[in-house]
Amino acid sequence: MEEERISLKDIKGIGPKILKRLEELKINDPMIIAMSNPKELSAILDIGEEKAKEIIESVREALGFKLETADKVLERRMKMRKITTSSKALDELLGGGIPTQAITEAFGMFGSGKTQLAFQLAINVQLPEEQGGLERACLFIDSEGTFSPERIVEIAKNRGLDADKILKNIYVARAYSSEHQILLVERAAEIIKEKNIGLIIVDSITSHFRVDYTGRGELAERQQKLNKHLHQLQRLADAFNLAVYITNQVMARPDIIFGDPTQPVGGHVLAHISFYRIYLRKSKQNLRIARLVDAPNLPEREVVFQITEKGIEDYEEK
Ligand code: GTP
Ligand code: MG
Repeated sequence: MEEERISLKDIKGIGPKILKRLEELKINDPMIIAMSNPKELSAILDIGEEKAKEIIESVREALGFKLETADKVLERRMKMRKITTSSKALDELLGGGIPTQAITEAFGMFGSGKTQLAFQLAINVQLPEEQGGLERACLFIDSEGTFSPERIVEIAKNRGLDADKILKNIYVARAYSSEHQILLVERAAEIIKEKNIGLIIVDSITSHFRVDYTGRGELAERQQKLNKHLHQLQRLADAFNLAVYITNQVMARPDIIFGDPTQPVGGHVLAHISFYRIYLRKSKQNLRIARLVDAPNLPEREVVFQITEKGIEDYEEK
């Protein structure tokens, strides 16, 4: 991916001493600094938090995070790509597949297929472009411990793919708490760059937050943290032209515990986030129904797909 060439030594606040320290740490990409938070940067550079904040701000400014001219916006849009879901119907529903530069949320009850779709995408991002992939790797943040390499192998083999190669290009990080999950995303820039990540999966985005912020009084704080987390993901999506797929389990009677399940995980006002939301539900046997909700440019309709030994597939009535 091309980025604007800016040199760290030209950044306001970065003197020879800090520059040397950055070199020692092999941090030569401004994007890594732009994605870090002051606390973390101050710790690794051994500088004050205020100073770290100033550096992050100037790097972000230099990278054009704040203002973008319309031609740049257009240029970025033109680079948007889609990852196939392996179901034509589902791809069409999404306007061609799971897009880069955006967050796609799958929400639905247990067993609705959120994780199975994640596995399929972790494979598909690796396919050549003409087969609906990006020829890039996947970062899989597993917060529920349900990642299954065996299932990945099964799907890959049944599709005639090199299962070993597929597994080697899925970088799995287990998240143990909401804080840990946030940290993994905050530190993802480096690995994204190094491993050429084209898709970040967070399965699920909400489970830890629900456990860690249970009380009524903690709702606002939970929402705030979650929003920040989502913004961080969106920034990575934009900066590296990658896709983000997150899952969110909704309960049968969510009204009691979490409020309206059809509301986006991040609540209503999520400025600067490009959000696609798919509601998944079970139909008979291995069939699943997907509905795209509140997408501004796409009609709200439903499609059917199935979960088989090949992963996600179209359903053809016999
Ligand atoms: P939660 O994480 O519990 O909220 O559910 P989920 O939405 O992630 O469900 P998941 O994607 O795990 O879907 C589970 C369903 O996928 C099962 O009910 C099966 O129908 C199907 N499935 C899971 N594993 C396999 C498999 O190895 N082979 C086949 N054919 N189907 C599978
Ligand atoms: Mg799951």
